[in-house]
Amino acid sequence: MPRRLFVTTALPYANGSFHIGHIMEYIQADIWVRFQRMQGHEVHFVCADDAHGAAIMLKAEAEGITPQQLVARIAAERPKYLDGFHVSFDHWHSTDSPENVELSQDIYRKLRAAGLIATRTIEQFHDPVKGMFLPDRYIKGECPTCGAKDQYGDSCEVCGAVYAPTDLKNPYSTITGATPVLRQSEHYFFSLSDPRCVEFLKGWALDGRLQPEVANKAREWLEGTAAADGTRSGGLADWDISRDAPYFGIPIPDAPGKYFYVWLDAPIGYLASLKANCAKRGLDFASFVAPDADVEQVHFIGKDIIYFHTLFWPAMLKFAGYKVPDRVNVHGFITVSGEKMSKSRGTGLSPLRYIELGMNPEWLRYYLAAKLNARVEDIDFNPEDFVARVNSDLVGKLVNIASRCAGFLVKRFDGRLAPLDHGAHEGFAKPWAGPEAVAALYEQREYGKAIREVMQLADAVNQYVDAEKPWELAKDPARAADLHRCCSTALRAFRDLVLLLAPVLPAMAQQVRAFMNLPSLDWAALDAPLPAGHRIEAYRHLTTRVDPKQLDALFEPPVAAAPAAGAKAAPPAPTQAASQAEAKSTAPASAPPEGTISIDDFAKVDLRIARIVAAERVEGSDKLLRLTLDAGEGRTRTVFSGIRSWHAPESLVGRLTVMVANLAPRKMKFGLSEGMVLAASFPDDGGGVFLLEPQDGAQPGMKVK
Ligand code: 2FM
Ligand code: ZN
Repeated sequence: MPRRLFVTTALPYANGSFHIGHIMEYIQADIWVRFQRMQGHEVHFVCADDAHGAAIMLKAEAEGITPQQLVARIAAERPKYLDGFHVSFDHWHSTDSPENVELSQDIYRKLRAAGLIATRTIEQFHDPVKGMFLPDRYIKGECPTCGAKDQYGDSCEVCGAVYAPTDLKNPYSTITGATPVLRQSEHYFFSLSDPRCVEFLKGWALDGRLQPEVANKAREWLEGTAAADGTRSGGLADWDISRDAPYFGIPIPDAPGKYFYVWLDAPIGYLASLKANCAKRGLDFASFVAPDADVEQVHFIGKDIIYFHTLFWPAMLKFAGYKVPDRVNVHGFITVSGEKMSKSRGTGLSPLRYIELGMNPEWLRYYLAAKLNARVEDIDFNPEDFVARVNSDLVGKLVNIASRCAGFLVKRFDGRLAPLDHGAHEGFAKPWAGPEAVAALYEQREYGKAIREVMQLADAVNQYVDAEKPWELAKDPARAADLHRCCSTALRAFRDLVLLLAPVLPAMAQQVRAFMNLPSLDWAALDAPLPAGHRIEAYRHLTTRVDPKQLDALFEPPVAAAPAAGAKAAPPAPTQAASQAEAKSTAPASAPPEGTISIDDFAKVDLRIARIVAAERVEGSDKLLRLTLDAGEGRTRTVFSGIRSWHAPESLVGRLTVMVANLAPRKMKFGLSEGMVLAASFPDDGGGVFLLEPQDGAQPGMKVK
């Protein structure tokens, strides 16, 4: 029975490029989606930019553009990655869209009609300079428990304490450096603690639809935790869904100056994207979202956003009269050579650089698939392991079969397959679990296990070719029939291998489809071996080996360091035509002196005005100061600078300076340095070192050019 599937991946924030974590999630979901399509199911696979929120508003403001312009610029980059890694979304939308406004307001109105919206006055930090309430991540101060400086408003990275922003000592706004003041405001809440919600969620979350470890988390949240004396604490709290102006978001109906908190309208963006996809394809959107719709709604997400997807989201849908999610498939994080990824900085593995280096996207798809399973486990990208795995499996085992057998078939037998050799063909059924078992593994997202099974078949086929030695059979005209039989048997099995791996290797499957004249790439084709007389074309090269040098290049710092995510992008390089025109008009008569750089070279350095919000001596170093800089990005950066001998840290706080914003982050003994400040000195520092300071009027975030 064909199934109707509505599949999503988490909507990425539209304020930065994709990092390897995004690409891993898209590949995981894409493999599942392609597998379902091969089964003949109807799949609608959508995503969108998560456009709203304070971070995007502030970043756009710092760049002097509208949030919509920022979102459009980020969205314009998306196809490079998605096409580059063969991710087959049916539609990509934005939460800042008419569909999302309509759906979010509709859901809100229905929740209100159900009596699940409440208002309450709360007290919150307000930045008097900026004139806005401060989200927790824009407030820093000293940890109330251990006294560590520059800790965020919700938890301490040094001692792990969790607290409210009002508990911080000496709090400051990371936007302006001002001391925040407490102010009251009326907020809107979704009454998640209502017994109806709790009862519904206990059923929905604990009925076996979630992965066991995810269900356990949900149970803890729903039931609270038991103390030694048997009392329980915790349980669901109501959810604050409003934010005050200025905010980039969707207006709350009948509440002037109030906007939906970004996490309210973000998941509704799944529906907005589906709705736009339905309009594009002439499908009835209501038939997907009605509570009893015959549709499986499946979300792929990372382990950091389980709370939103297993509590708020299903409850919102349920009590607004929409269909609830059938599954929330949670994956772990990806580390690179064992190093954790930061959400804002990503890892050292840039997916864009991977594509730009011309590395085959299917190497990465295969490698990640081989590591992925259905549990919430982190996986590691290890460069040596990557080279070994891809070269041994894809080239050494898979492609090797076709490259060793197809040539003989085409040259000697007009490309036509011999009659089926039942014995040999059936012999291949033994060493692995078979197509149905592999299908079940794909369905359960146990891709690593699926690949291990398929590779058992590849091993068996290679052993067969090694034993039959077609290259020797080819030397003896009397053994032509054996040669024909052997190559036909191997190529039939090769076709099966390619079909079995097609969800992971879609481009290679298309190439093989063309070269082997395959009528379809449906899973059902596995039921019937290619018939006698089926004709294949001349073999065309399918993939190369990975050269370890490519991995070196992938991890080498790029010549022009990419701006850290969250930093402003470097200005676009002048077009070639424009720079040539410029070269013509300004070209010096003789060759420029050695060391001369072009204006394009200079433009690569992203210099920004930054405010020093904190400066401290670094324990264990007599040279370094740890500077906390605000370059108007809606976050601060830590930069280590060797100016301790010339500047007392106290004298620097509050001052402006010039920062190199697109310097590749550097790991130092004392932590990560995310840029560089500029100072003037003679080569030997004789005469002192002087931090650059702009004239009055300069603002954090301004570009120096
Ligand atoms: O964590 C994130 O990156 C969010 N932008 C995910 C949103 S998922 C969904 F709810 F839209
Ligand atoms: Zn602490």
